[in-house]
Amino acid sequence: MAKIIGGIGASHSPTIGFAKDTGKQNDPAWAPIFESFAKVRDWVRAKEIDVLFMIYNDHITSFFFDHYSAFALGVDDVWRPADEGDGPRPVPPAKGHAALARHIAAALVADEFDMSFFQGKPLDHGCLSPLSMMGDEAGPWGGSIVPLQVGVLQLPIPNAKRCWKLGRSLRKAIQSFPDENLRVAIVATGGLSHQVHGERAGFLNEAWDQEFLDLLETAPEKLVEKRLADYAVLGGMEGAEVIMWLIMRGALSGTVRKVHLHTYAPSVTNIATVVFEDLGDAPDPEEIAAYRAHMGYELAGAETLAGTYPFTLDRSLKNFRINDFLHRLIEPEHRARFRDDFAGLADAYGLDAEERALITGRDWIGMIRRGVSFFVLEKMAAVIGVSNPEVYASMRGETIEQFLATRKVPIRYSVAAGKNAEEIAAN
Ligand code: FE2
Repeated sequence: MAKIIGGIGASHSPTIGFAKDTGKQNDPAWAPIFESFAKVRDWVRAKEIDVLFMIYNDHITSFFFDHYSAFALGVDDVWRPADEGDGPRPVPPAKGHAALARHIAAALVADEFDMSFFQGKPLDHGCLSPLSMMGDEAGPWGGSIVPLQVGVLQLPIPNAKRCWKLGRSLRKAIQSFPDENLRVAIVATGGLSHQVHGERAGFLNEAWDQEFLDLLETAPEKLVEKRLADYAVLGGMEGAEVIMWLIMRGALSGTVRKVHLHTYAPSVTNIATVVFEDLGDAPDPEEIAAYRAHMGYELAGAETLAGTYPFTLDRSLKNFRINDFLHRLIEPEHRARFRDDFAGLADAYGLDAEERALITGRDWIGMIRRGVSFFVLEKMAAVIGVSNPEVYASMRGETIEQFLATRKVPIRYSVAAGKNAEEIAAN
């Protein structure tokens, strides 16, 4: 059972990363930011934290309005810094704890949170600003992270109560992870009060910030009842992102000990850091066992179905490259290169020899066994003029005639919509 050691609250203003990268450590105007984060860093090291569960919101960098989701859990094993307009920050990629992420994914979905999952997307200042401050002159912090992106920038968004409930489930999720030596801290980022758009830009309310921090420690239920409009009035429209701090507080026990608090409001936001140590009892092993059974309930037994390869997050991460390569066949330029210059395109994507052989050999069942989604295979089939029933027949080890003989009507079809569709229809 992994241990929740405590929770951290930290603003994620780009000011923080900017100060670090431009060497403002000894500038009196900026020094308080470094002193504030040094206390957090020292605590993380003293407590030998292995994993930081980073709750943040992306700032329309890696998550755009073409598909905006409420709770997106990062399941990758490496996390690169994002380019937010002038190149990525000069910080090395962070390690991701993919196994813990998958466990948390299963737990939160079992608890009826409609999660989304991401990999291969770079992290912007929402996560990186505080994370990069965990490193020092000797180098970056050596632990792993699991990022949770909360979509708070396009309304409607989850409310404070939903964030709190997610935190309650997150506690059970982490405590039921079967690695009793793993030491986890929950990091909530964002806030405090600020507004960065419109005529109200620059709005700041330090009195409310102090009240929020007090309530977060001693009476978080009062924050849970507040509406988003209340947060916007008190702390600014963008300041309403502090509802993410309720996920962190919800993941801690009822009683916590505040071991650090620092606030500093030099410009448009109150840059705050706070550390709470978890004073809760160790979880009951029987409750943990029951929770694990609850997590596995929906899919228990599916793994024994013959000829069936459930597309799990594990398979997805291991095979992201080949799935991405084949998914891009929906783009005309990629499709043209796939047809005309396969070797060059495979080089550009870094496909290994096995992946190339699977694709060029039209080894449909080989690709399924490896972890390629059927739904990118049908795109590849459309590109090369192969009908879906031919793919099914191949996977079953049958000829197309044998397969069609098993159907009520021996029809062929495809997701193709151009010349290949006409040829398949003519056969
Ligand atoms: Fe933010």
